[in-house]
Amino acid sequence: MTFNQMRHAKLWFAGEAGNWKLARYEVDELGEGFDDVVRYHPTHKDSPVPLGPSVEKIIREPLAEVGRAVAAGDRARFEKAFDALTDGCNRCHQATNFGFNVVQRPSTNAFSNQAFAPPANSGTPGPDAR
Ligand code: HEC
Repeated sequence: MTFNQMRHAKLWFAGEAGNWKLARYEVDELGEGFDDVVRYHPTHKDSPVPLGPSVEKIIREPLAEVGRAVAAGDRARFEKAFDALTDGCNRCHQATNFGFNVVQRPSTNAFSNQAFAPPANSGTPGPDAR
């Protein structure tokens, strides 16, 4: 889950910087992270509900919508979809007895060793790229 926290933060900064290729990558990594939850951690000892079905029910569609916003290079749609995704994270935490663990839009970038703006040679920028 710590990896997903990192992906969630990087996804935000990539989208805000208009680096849609990096954002696409983080969406894919988040999807794989949740695949691993389904495969390797389908249950949790403190959770009243199994995690696997919760992933499918709560997070797949919001994540897919983030992917569509990224594909469209649409910043406003991305922000809305990101907030809905974050809401999904929190709904699953509540469902699994981890409601004390609240995630939110990141405010400061903890990854100062990574550039989030698209590199100059990154090909055709999305419509919303700076
Ligand atoms: C399937 C339900 C589920 C979904 C969906 C989910 N989480 Fe979690 N999350 C958990 C559970 C259960 C734990 C505590 C389990 C553990 O790591 O021991 C947890 C723990 C965490 C932690 C605590 C890690 C720590 O050590 O402080 C963070 C941060 C976190 N999740 C972020 C996220 C983010 C960000 C998303 C959405 C992108 C997300 N989670 C989606 C169930 C979920």
